[in-house]
Amino acid sequence: MPAIVIIGGQWGDEGKGKIVDHLAERASMVVRFGGGNNAGHTVVIGDSVFKLHQVPAGILRPQVAAVLGSGMVINPPALVEELDALAARGISIGNLHISTNAHLVMPYHILFDELEERMRGNLAIGTTKRGIGPAYADKAARTGLRMQDLIDRERFARRVAQALKRVNLELTRVFGQRAITVEEIVSQYAPAAERLAPFVADTGLLVHDALRRGEVVLMEGAHATMLDIDFGTYPYVTSSSCSVGGACLGVGISPIMIKQIVGVIKVYTSRVGKGPFPTELTDETGDWIVERGHEYGTTTGRRRRCGWIDLVSLRYAARINGFTGIAVTRLDVLSGLQEVKLCIGYRLPDDTVTEHYPPDTNVLAQTTAIYETMPGWQDDISSARSWDDLPPQARAYCQRISDWLDVPMDLISVGAERSELVALHWPI
Ligand code: GDP
Ligand code: IMO
Ligand code: MG
Repeated sequence: MPAIVIIGGQWGDEGKGKIVDHLAERASMVVRFGGGNNAGHTVVIGDSVFKLHQVPAGILRPQVAAVLGSGMVINPPALVEELDALAARGISIGNLHISTNAHLVMPYHILFDELEERMRGNLAIGTTKRGIGPAYADKAARTGLRMQDLIDRERFARRVAQALKRVNLELTRVFGQRAITVEEIVSQYAPAAERLAPFVADTGLLVHDALRRGEVVLMEGAHATMLDIDFGTYPYVTSSSCSVGGACLGVGISPIMIKQIVGVIKVYTSRVGKGPFPTELTDETGDWIVERGHEYGTTTGRRRRCGWIDLVSLRYAARINGFTGIAVTRLDVLSGLQEVKLCIGYRLPDDTVTEHYPPDTNVLAQTTAIYETMPGWQDDISSARSWDDLPPQARAYCQRISDWLDVPMDLISVGAERSELVALHWPI
């Protein structure tokens, strides 16, 4: 039962979309297991650039069933817009399935996300303002609405009316906003309900059956380990379980069905939004990486904070997820540097040195990165398709990452386009 989970090893935007698209060549199903349209996964095929937000990257492979799992929080009108845009570009959406148990992002969640961020002032998280935190809060509070509510008009109106009792008190009394009516929400979501109804299914069963038939199923992680609600740099995290445990929770399969866990790791680090980032570069090297790597968010267009690779936090990510292999991405971006640095330790506020990631966010915020320096490489490596095509310095750099993490390399990505990679080993 070969289920393969693809997980971001850092703070997101590692290139998960590209890796999922590549592995999907041999899969029959790709399942997104968490988050919503706070994610932005890019796949480049020839001159065509696809930016996916709620739909899994598997949609771009005709033989693949694309599944939106029960762990997601779905914004229905935004999903319809995304599907229409894909269909307009000739992508078939016939083989799409949406979990009946997936929660809904409601208009008031988006409003609360904005208002709560404003109220946080200096302590704002820097969310994508897509309503993700408030939607997961309602899920945990058992006041959320799900896809199965959306597609039953009467039930939806009833559940909205129930939810609005508290929502309107909070909106009017805490935030001084106007109250929302049931009719407003129903009329806003009704067209999407009608469009999405045919896709709603018991997706847990679909996945289970595919695995029983021995088919390859990919679980597409969104966000990343360091943004995980439990294991990330809390409170500067997203509200879902983005590490491997989330794949079981957000799909409905047993952990014993997972055969491989691929960590997607970019050869430097980026982060959007606030929160500690020990290897952040605020100098001209940081600016150079941002410009050369076009490090602007896929979802919000925000400039991403960039810095050297952090092997301390990556070793923590490898431990939490149990990576069986790594996909190393964006190696081409670092071409042209005289030297490259890797963080191999943290100096803590009490002046001690550690190789272990400190779970206390305040301690993390005060750590100084300790680096090892390696020679850079100057060549354009985007045409490399085998290990031997890479310059020796680039090979040594990738090998160092793999050795330090004690995880083998499955593949190395050397450009955004689908074919621009060195496939070393199929994790299947
Ligand atoms: P995701 O959220 O992890 O799927 O990553 P994003 O799509 O948000 O950001 C990754 C960006 O890097 C996208 O623009 C990709 O097209 C691009 N990309 C992926 N792999 C590579 C690579 O190896 N080299 C370069 N130059 N770009 C890459
Ligand atoms: P992909 O899947 C990068 C970040 C936001 C913010 C924090 C909380 O494309 O890698 P949220 O809106 O989720 O409540 O914001 O999490 N964040 C991401 N950063 N890539 C992502 O997704 C992200 N998803 C959430 O910037 O700091
Ligand atoms: Mg992204």
